[in-house]
Amino acid sequence: MTTAAPSVTVRVPAKVNVQLAVGGVRPDGFHPLANVFLAVGLYDEVTAAPAPELRITCTGPGADQVPLDRTNLAARAAIALAELHGLAPDVHLHIAKDIPVAGGMAGGSADAAGALLACDALWGTATTTDQLLAICAELGSDVPFSLVGGAALGVGRGEQLTPLAVGGEFHWVFAVADGGLSTPAVYGEFDRLTAGLEVPEPEASETLIAALRTGDATALAAALTNDLQAAALSLRPSLAAALAAGTDAGALAALVSGSGPTTAYLVKDAEAAQRVADALLASGTCAAARPAVAPAPGATVL
Ligand code: C5P
Repeated sequence: MTTAAPSVTVRVPAKVNVQLAVGGVRPDGFHPLANVFLAVGLYDEVTAAPAPELRITCTGPGADQVPLDRTNLAARAAIALAELHGLAPDVHLHIAKDIPVAGGMAGGSADAAGALLACDALWGTATTTDQLLAICAELGSDVPFSLVGGAALGVGRGEQLTPLAVGGEFHWVFAVADGGLSTPAVYGEFDRLTAGLEVPEPEASETLIAALRTGDATALAAALTNDLQAAALSLRPSLAAALAAGTDAGALAALVSGSGPTTAYLVKDAEAAQRVADALLASGTCAAARPAVAPAPGATVL
């Protein structure tokens, strides 16, 4: 009998920003945010297995756009964790993608959080949550949230998290666009569109946080905002037709997810989700339409 090599698989959710309030650009190039993250039930899986040297493989939709070298956020996560413990990052990371690539749903951040947790379990390094969160924050503004999941308010550049209560399930549809959008390009377009204007300090909406707490989809729909939406639409005007197709089909509200180009539709229930997903696909305004339920748990070892 042969013993299979040990490996650890971690499942990590996508996110949608139910509020993304963006302030004027800081001297370090980042923007101050009041960012209300909600984890949604679309997942990537990251598997870590022993290997003679660091290796990344990736399968799933959009996998051909994922870098397989040390610039991959999952590779950088493994290197950072190995460094913390004085180890060599000799690991094979396999990423099974289901989160849209460069879609504004934190897919790359999810893979980084998944790689951290998978390597920590594989190497038996028992890293504390605070240490993991510190590495996450260095890797990217959205990575800490991918680790914790649920719902949270992120301030600073989005990495300083306060968990938020969610009082029920929210049903969503996500329309996947053809091709991605670069997050820095969307922030750059935001700067261009707001040049010369007074950009207010970003502030979390108490109304929106209350809607999450009470599980009230209609109230949440009325409170959804994304300050990057105008910039994403400016770079990708065709997204307007997708947003209109979703609201025409009965979505409670439609918005761009994060920096886009994925668009997000909040709906009443699972039945409405299927109806809106079918209508979005039939409209020809998107490449795929995916129902998903929120909140979803953070990175989890399977
Ligand atoms: O933190 P992360 O690496 O995900 O950010 C990617 C890019 O998005 C940054 O280089 C920056 O251009 C932009 N960004 C920003 N303000 C934030 C978060 C991200 O300008 N709060």
